[in-house]
Amino acid sequence: MKRRAEITGWGKYVPEKVLTNNDLAKMVDTNDEWITSRTGIKERRIRTDTDTTTSMAVAAAREAMTVAEVDASEIDLIVVANSSPDYLLPAPANFVQHELGASCPALTVAAGCSGWVYALVTASQFIETGAYNNILVIGVELISYALDYTDRSTCILFGDAAAAVVLQPSTGDAGVMTFELGSDGGQAHHLWVPGGGTRNPVSQNVVDNREMYIRMNGQEVFKFATRKFTSCIKNIAEQAGMKPADLDLIIPHQANLRIIEYAAGLLGLSMDKFFVNLHKYGNTSAASIPLALVEAIQEGRVKPGDVTGMVAFGSGLSWAGAVVRMGEAVAKVAPQSVVAGVMQ
Ligand SMILES: CC(C)(COP(=O)(O)OP(=O)(O)OC[C@H]1O[C@@H](n2cnc3c(N)ncnc32)[C@H](O)[C@@H]1OP(=O)(O)O)[C@@H](O)C(=O)NCCC(=O)NCCS
Repeated sequence: MKRRAEITGWGKYVPEKVLTNNDLAKMVDTNDEWITSRTGIKERRIRTDTDTTTSMAVAAAREAMTVAEVDASEIDLIVVANSSPDYLLPAPANFVQHELGASCPALTVAAGCSGWVYALVTASQFIETGAYNNILVIGVELISYALDYTDRSTCILFGDAAAAVVLQPSTGDAGVMTFELGSDGGQAHHLWVPGGGTRNPVSQNVVDNREMYIRMNGQEVFKFATRKFTSCIKNIAEQAGMKPADLDLIIPHQANLRIIEYAAGLLGLSMDKFFVNLHKYGNTSAASIPLALVEAIQEGRVKPGDVTGMVAFGSGLSWAGAVVRMGEAVAKVAPQSVVAGVMQ
């Protein structure tokens, strides 16, 4: 049997501070009704002064390592999906490796909201080849730093969070079964940060034009997302010898409830097939799918043997999907998640 990468540990961290739709209505010209009906989002978490990209990633990773019963000294590789680093250099994975007390290679994957699935697939290759046995795959985003809180079309959508899994070689048929990764860089300008990079370095002009913040063409991203969501789910299910309806649970990128509902309609699936937690967190970018996965496991929505489909889309524009069979580990009683140091 092919050696597969199985999810054997999971953990999450979300900041304590809650920003509701009503809070946003005091900051920009919007209201709870508009945000709820257009996106499904009710509230999101925003970093407090003590939260950093590294600290959030480390908290989620520690929880995942506890569930998997692996120590930092046993971790062979850390892969961090992130587009909101503490510093531009070095990449966040290096800080995470140091803070965890691990002495292994550390790799950062920057693929926006598709990043964690890209990271999962990348990490699974090292397990499948036999190169490594214990890999941390973390999705973390402190995306509030890149939001323009005068732009009502973007600031309502996103939130901060981290989530992580441990991958280990499977002893049975659990693990990453199939995947699809994609990029359409020709549409990059539909979701980007136009200033602060080498093409348009930080300057007074960049600051005055607020070009260091996320800019988005919402309607184009919506069209891209629904198209790629449906084709990707079909493709990864087919590679696994299944139809989308055969998947036990689909864990989609939590960008917008309307995107999920629209894609569900195109796939002919009921919403019961989809795990949704975006009403609590908004779009947490690279943390979105692992955060949903962790909560799906903690809520008992996935059982050993279940086949899940994960599908992400985002800046790039990019997309990524994977079919993952859950193993015996998901039957474990996990420790309660840490929310800003408070057990919940
Ligand atoms: C952003 C999004 C919710 C906007 O919804 P929409 O139905 O496309 O709305 P539109 O952009 O057509 O705007 C409709 C109106 O609402 C207004 N509007 C935009 N944001 C608003 C807000 N937060 N509150 C109130 N009104 C708002 C617009 O200004 C526009 O007003 P106008 O008709 O007077 O010009 C939607 O396009 C979307 O979700 N796109 C995908 C975005 C995404 O998921 N990005 C991340 C991917 S990883």
